[in-house]
Amino acid sequence: MCGIVGYIGNKNSVPILIEGLKRLEYRGYDSAGIGVINGKIGSFVKSKGKVSVLEEKSAADGIEAKIGIGHTRWATHGEPNEINAHPHFNEEKSLFLIHNGIIENYNVLKTGLKKLGYKFLSETDSEVLVHLIDSYMKKDHGLFQAVRLSLNQVEGTYGIAVISTKEPNKIIVAKKGSPLVIGIGDDENFIASDVNALIAHTSQVVYMEDDEIAEINADSFRAKSIHDKDIEKEIHDVEMNLDEITKGGYPHFMLKEIMEQPEAVRNSLRGRLLLDEGIARLGGLQGFADRLANSKRIIITACGTSWHAALVGEYMLEQFAGIPVEVEYASEFRYRNPIINKDDALLFISQSGETADTLAALKEAKRRGALVLGICNAVGSSIARESHAGVYTHAGPEIGVASTKAFTTQLSVLALITLLIARKKHVSIVDGKEIIKEMQQIPEKIEKILQMNDEIEKIAENFVDSTNFLYLGRGYNFPVALEGALKLKEISYIHAEGYPAAEMKHGPIALIDENMPVVFIAPTDSVYDKVISNIEEVKARKGIIIGIASENDNKIDSLVDYSIKIPDTIRMLMPILTVIPLQLLAYHVAVKKGLNVDQPRNLAKSVTVE
Ligand code: G6P
Repeated sequence: MCGIVGYIGNKNSVPILIEGLKRLEYRGYDSAGIGVINGKIGSFVKSKGKVSVLEEKSAADGIEAKIGIGHTRWATHGEPNEINAHPHFNEEKSLFLIHNGIIENYNVLKTGLKKLGYKFLSETDSEVLVHLIDSYMKKDHGLFQAVRLSLNQVEGTYGIAVISTKEPNKIIVAKKGSPLVIGIGDDENFIASDVNALIAHTSQVVYMEDDEIAEINADSFRAKSIHDKDIEKEIHDVEMNLDEITKGGYPHFMLKEIMEQPEAVRNSLRGRLLLDEGIARLGGLQGFADRLANSKRIIITACGTSWHAALVGEYMLEQFAGIPVEVEYASEFRYRNPIINKDDALLFISQSGETADTLAALKEAKRRGALVLGICNAVGSSIARESHAGVYTHAGPEIGVASTKAFTTQLSVLALITLLIARKKHVSIVDGKEIIKEMQQIPEKIEKILQMNDEIEKIAENFVDSTNFLYLGRGYNFPVALEGALKLKEISYIHAEGYPAAEMKHGPIALIDENMPVVFIAPTDSVYDKVISNIEEVKARKGIIIGIASENDNKIDSLVDYSIKIPDTIRMLMPILTVIPLQLLAYHVAVKKGLNVDQPRNLAKSVTVE
């Protein structure tokens, strides 16, 4: 979603801002802009569409400046166009502001400002803030104080950066609900909504917390709470290198990330499997593992692909840990009046660690005194920091909007947590060791599936003109059916639905004819025969069948039109394998349709607004 970058130092900020915005493109956006200050002169460039258009426009304008801020906008209030793009500015064009989040009381503030004579150019909620700050500066407040006082009037969420020609040696930033990081350099400093935009320049970062405001100069920074208390901020070292956020020779981030899965899963498991004891070791849960194992109920809350991982987690935990599990959409959970008991444990799963609904659900559960645990990929993200304890997935940066390696590593971490609790309860050391041995083989088995890429690409050719798809699976593979359908609709814009295979008879079967492709996830497990019966039912109605089956299954070939044979593992780990061909299938269909795989229309990598 919206992205923020900023620079203050001795270099020309414009190329740094453009490069930073390009690194944030993956988050999803529809317009972009930069605002800079050169001495007493402020200027800005905005464009609809891609950052490359903004780059051309700013080169044509020939702007150069040592202080600047940049923004990618994902429209919430007002259509995507140049006027609504950020930065927003005051009438004299001396004050520039970029904003992520939503100012909920913007209408009230706007009415008040209009009475003072302020004119509004855009339809955005953000523009209100620049005029509000301007009104405080007109009352002789300095920039820092004017921003701070304005924020005290704001209801809603924000990550903001503000510059002014009146005080041209600083950037003011503030955060509430939208991520914001300061990058510390040598006689230069950076800001961004995402560390990806900073790591080309520095590995030293300062994470802003909610209700904090900071002044950033070229060689220093200071922070306060918006209620005017001084705050000491800690500088963190981020372990990330540039290779991790470039395509590394692949045509798309999504394909790179699919191919990285053996390594990503290895990283998730590294150092966490204790074969001799048949147990998992999770440092991040130290001090909380017993509480988790003794909980009477586990509620897992997430959105999107992470929610599908949560569903698999439900099967795992109920089967092995014997604890009842409920899985909730974060957006539903936070607006109900959820019943949370003192013996419950809540698990929040989020790749980005910044999804607004998941974060809000976590805060609500925490407020009610529950144990809140996070499973996040992005280190230092808001959910990771707000949780009492948690486990990182260590998938490395995921840039493609359609989540792939984040999912398989979330499943790996859920399996680790399951093993840890199961061994604390009734699962024997022998059974624990068996699970570990299977887990250790997963990366190699993924590699084997990835070798079928060309085969899957050929299958994909047949479905470029399809308009509907059905994905069916049972048990552990029902959530995989949902995930397969989500991958396809996200990037190929083909309508796809996932269903529990047996539920097909209660509705979807009516859709089946010779034009309906149906993907069956049918490994040879305890429900195999039942899935085969469902395949027969589709075949009888002339549906086109793609079967994801076990490598030793020869029976299925005569029933399906296309089969993809994959290695077997224990049921609990099977989703980590069965999802891989579905990711590749969706990828190749979308590429063959000529679509923008990494940045599908209307979607955002990290949904930081409700
Ligand atoms: C967006 C992304 C999805 C992701 C979901 C949850 O919709 O496009 O890929 O699964 O958000 O994101 P999170 O970062 O919380 O896992």
